[in-house]
Amino acid sequence: MQQAKNTPPETILVAGASGGLATALVEKLSRRFPRARLLTISRTGIASPAGRHSHHSVDLSNPETITDVTEWLRYESLPNWVIHCSGILHWPNHLPEKNLQQCKDEALLRSIAVNVLSHLHLAQALAPLLQKRSPLTWASLSAKVGSIEDNHLGGWYSYRMSKAALNMLVRNLSIEWGRKLDCCRVVAVHPGTTDTALSKPFQQNIPVDKLYSPAQSADRIVSVLEQLCDADTGKLLFWDGSQIPW
Ligand SMILES: NC(=O)c1ccc[n+]([C@@H]2O[C@H](COP(=O)([O-])OP(=O)(O)OC[C@H]3O[C@@H](n4cnc5c(N)ncnc54)[C@H](OP(=O)(O)O)[C@@H]3O)[C@@H](O)[C@H]2O)c1
Repeated sequence: MQQAKNTPPETILVAGASGGLATALVEKLSRRFPRARLLTISRTGIASPAGRHSHHSVDLSNPETITDVTEWLRYESLPNWVIHCSGILHWPNHLPEKNLQQCKDEALLRSIAVNVLSHLHLAQALAPLLQKRSPLTWASLSAKVGSIEDNHLGGWYSYRMSKAALNMLVRNLSIEWGRKLDCCRVVAVHPGTTDTALSKPFQQNIPVDKLYSPAQSADRIVSVLEQLCDADTGKLLFWDGSQIPW
């Protein structure tokens, strides 16, 4: 990834804002870009960061929120950066599947609702507001395990399948918006294994130096986004900015 001089964002939107990585990102972004307006979306309220901040409580996995989010953004302001953090791996009564026999429609459908549809709906809410000359950086937090080429272990069916679908959504968005906007970078980012509620049940076998703090991962994600260049759009990126095959 080549170094590019990018204009600092004036307005940043973080969605799925109550989670471990999102909380650290909001903190990091408010320090890194103290003049930027920070918009957050979550199913719940969040602690307000320092600086100019506005919060909207909706569940983006519900398609009925699309118009509502469009109107909220129209009233607030058009973001130059969007970081969508929503994602789900496990919940009460569901752990990632180890084999085919453990797969259940319900788990896959729930994974798709959060890991894919919440990202699709936010893109649909933003789309009517996009302006040709207003630069846009969109990052969906995805996962390396959503890479088809990189999958040598199997298992984790619902998570892998839904993240692979998210990756395709990101690729499609990069093409569609790339045609419409003068400056548009749409990427999926793998944050690395980070110590949050999502990874908690799977941390035992992770070497200490491979389990990152949310603050560390947030720093890296922001650095990756700051250094994005035109050639990066439509890619799945590792936390150091290198490319992961789809
Ligand atoms: N932690 C890791 O090791 C790791 C590794 C690879 C990729 N990732 C990805 O990074 C992203 C952030 O993960 P995290 O570690 O910060 O996890 P987290 O703390 O569990 O946060 C996940 C976020 O997803 C949203 N979410 C969870 N369940 C939902 C549901 N049923 N309906 C709608 N939204 C729901 C929540 O947003 P609300 O604010 O709306 O509640 C929550 O803030 C995810 O996309 C994850 O797949 C994480």
